[in-house]
Amino acid sequence: MKILLLGSGGREHALGWKIAQSKRVTQLFIAPGNAGTSEIGTNVDIQVNDFDAIKDFICIQQIDMVVVGPEDPLVNGIYDALKNNARTKNTVVIGPSKEGAKLEGSKDFAKAFMQRHHIPTARYHTFTGETLDEGLRFLETLEAPYVLKADGLCAGKGVLILPTLAEAQRELKEMLGGMFGKASARVVIEEYLSGIECSVFVLTDGKHYQILPEAKDYKRIGEGDTGLNTGGMGSVSPVPFADKEWMKKVEERIIQPTINGLSEEGIDYKGFIFFGLINVKGEPMVIEYNCRMGDPETESVMLRLKSDIVDLFEGVAQGDLDERQIAFDTRSVVCVMLVSGGYPQAYTKGYPISGLETVKDSIVFHSGTAVKDERVVTAGGRVLAVCSYGKDKDEALNKSFAAAKKIDFQDVYFRKDIGKDL
Ligand code: AMP
Ligand code: GLY
Repeated sequence: MKILLLGSGGREHALGWKIAQSKRVTQLFIAPGNAGTSEIGTNVDIQVNDFDAIKDFICIQQIDMVVVGPEDPLVNGIYDALKNNARTKNTVVIGPSKEGAKLEGSKDFAKAFMQRHHIPTARYHTFTGETLDEGLRFLETLEAPYVLKADGLCAGKGVLILPTLAEAQRELKEMLGGMFGKASARVVIEEYLSGIECSVFVLTDGKHYQILPEAKDYKRIGEGDTGLNTGGMGSVSPVPFADKEWMKKVEERIIQPTINGLSEEGIDYKGFIFFGLINVKGEPMVIEYNCRMGDPETESVMLRLKSDIVDLFEGVAQGDLDERQIAFDTRSVVCVMLVSGGYPQAYTKGYPISGLETVKDSIVFHSGTAVKDERVVTAGGRVLAVCSYGKDKDEALNKSFAAAKKIDFQDVYFRKDIGKDL
């Protein structure tokens, strides 16, 4: 089987690493990929939203399966674009239809979906420029802190959590006034939930599902969860509080109603669902849906998945995912992200990376790297994901730190407290 994987981050390196281990795969292409993915397959210079180039490549190379890493092409309708084209309609796509991807692409759609299917989530209302005054009054009925969410995709920047009513009212005016362009033409205001977050992932064929290992990610740049939000500074799997009893609640109250709801509403969904959950006094609630895997959660989750991922993907394509075997490694995995100094604000790219070959006891996935003059150089804010197994998370964390210290590039930074709160 020939597989095309779309994306260029640590998530895609980890997915590709797992896909490449399958005996069913004869060739793996990654578009556009990074320096790391070139070691497990063939990088192709095509951008993830260039649907015409992707269609041509599928035809020329006779690709059997397309695995979509990031949300952008899904929200833009890559599934529909390939299915509605005579030349590519038989290619398997792992990723939902444009309608299904609205679970991530529109916060208002996701909240209304959860309400229709009685899935536990924060109370909310959606406002537009025309209902701004009602929005300002609605804020007065809530207690601090205030949560404002731009409806559309904002590259992770569309959620504001504000400590005072005055700030919330000012930001609501800004957002509805075009702060994030079209993405904030509608704004969801919701109740603030307090608790620890956990990412739960399922793969679904639209009817059946398999639950993958859960993970926790660390979003803030600074130790002790301080400073600016990032794409994610590390991840840990398993998550201790996500025990059997908690996961049973997640499955019954959240996963099953979501899959059944999609099916009842006739929404074509064959791919990953990422449930961003929060544990509120022992009860799981949904903070958000994503229509893809998480990054850097995938880096930990793929290490814990023992089964052949391509077999699971075939189950998605054939609608018999429930009959496929799935097994997990019981060890802990900790992923520590090495980032460019300055990230998530301005940083410099192009610094040579040294020491990668000295790492023996960890697996290093590339996030933002490129090859320049035959050397691996930094090419993004998040650069490398250093992942290790351990009998517990502390052992895994210590291995990742030991490996991280062997790798060097100018102004490298990483958090040393990943997993310490669990
Ligand atoms: P989202 O993009 O919806 O995941 O929101 C980004 C982050 O904002 C989440 O990971 C949470 O940490 C936080 N957040 C979002 N919604 C809420 C909420 N209702 N209560 C508390 N924190 C929230
Ligand atoms: N790690 C969170 C995300 O991928 O959205």
